[in-house]
Amino acid sequence: MQNLESIVRAAKTAFATALDPDALEQAKARYLGKSGQITVLLKELGKLAAEEKRKVGAAINQAKAAVETALAERREAIRQAELSARLAEEALDVTLPGRGEAQGGLHPVTRTLERIEQLFASLGFAVADGPEIETDFYNFTALNTPEDHPARSMHDTFYLLDEDGRLAKGLLLRTHTSPIQARYMQAHVAKYAGQETMPEIRIIAPGRVYRVDSDATHSPMFHQVEGLWVGENVSFADLKGVIADFLRRFFETDDLKVRFRPSFFPFTEPSAEIDVAFTHGTQQWLEIAGCGMVHPNVLSRAGIDPEKHTGFAFGFGPDRLAMLRYGVDDLRLFFEGDLRFLRQFV
Ligand code: PHE
Repeated sequence: MQNLESIVRAAKTAFATALDPDALEQAKARYLGKSGQITVLLKELGKLAAEEKRKVGAAINQAKAAVETALAERREAIRQAELSARLAEEALDVTLPGRGEAQGGLHPVTRTLERIEQLFASLGFAVADGPEIETDFYNFTALNTPEDHPARSMHDTFYLLDEDGRLAKGLLLRTHTSPIQARYMQAHVAKYAGQETMPEIRIIAPGRVYRVDSDATHSPMFHQVEGLWVGENVSFADLKGVIADFLRRFFETDDLKVRFRPSFFPFTEPSAEIDVAFTHGTQQWLEIAGCGMVHPNVLSRAGIDPEKHTGFAFGFGPDRLAMLRYGVDDLRLFFEGDLRFLRQFV
């Protein structure tokens, strides 16, 4: 049967030239589908006489089996080809040297801040937060800092400009974390308004602050940790006790002298500068914080009765504490991002 042979040959060629499963299924339909060539021949068998039918039927079935075998082989071949292509694409060269993984670590100032938070938490201080872009009001006015105070001069403060390059009204980069005192007290008073007694306030507020200043011990961006404890009968003695306890635990030594040197801040009265010196080594005094009793004007501005409540506040320079603890002599090293320096602390 010439015709059958040529159908089988054509089917094999069609399968061989089908390059993907879709094309192969289409080719299959042309021969084995409902109206495929082989199927049609089988349907027409009925028209033949019994003797003919058996002979021709056997021949067609043989041809059909040959086509089915060719189809199965081609299916397998395409599957293998696709697999090899995928394997080649996802090739993994196990002989390449590894890339290694850089291990991150905490920045020494972050470590210091975390340590400070832990130590104050153990004394019952919560952590508060405030914006770095501050208003003139919270940075100065709410803190009893009059218009003509030198701290307001352009020399110290980064002011924000508006789109036309003019001073944005009353916006600046906070020069200290003290505005958080004012914000927190205000919110606290609002929260407990109408209650007979106001719970005490005991917070620290770590964060970045900004001043126009740069040398070995000053960076235009640096950190402060504000502290505030307001309640009934909170005294300067409490301030000294908290600070001394904190410093001894922070530096893990009793070989530490702490000195409160009279100073001035508009928002505290009396005010002091806190110096420390180690009783070993150079024994040099180093200034690490400002502090004092919260000024009555600051309390009443926030809505707290200074006749009933007193409090103390302090502002630490944690960068300085980190310098002392790790023996670093230039503050700017902390902020230059040089890995050779930073890796030492990991
Ligand atoms: N804000 C002061 C400064 O930046 C420090 C300070 C905080 C002083 C709290 C007294 C009370 O220098």
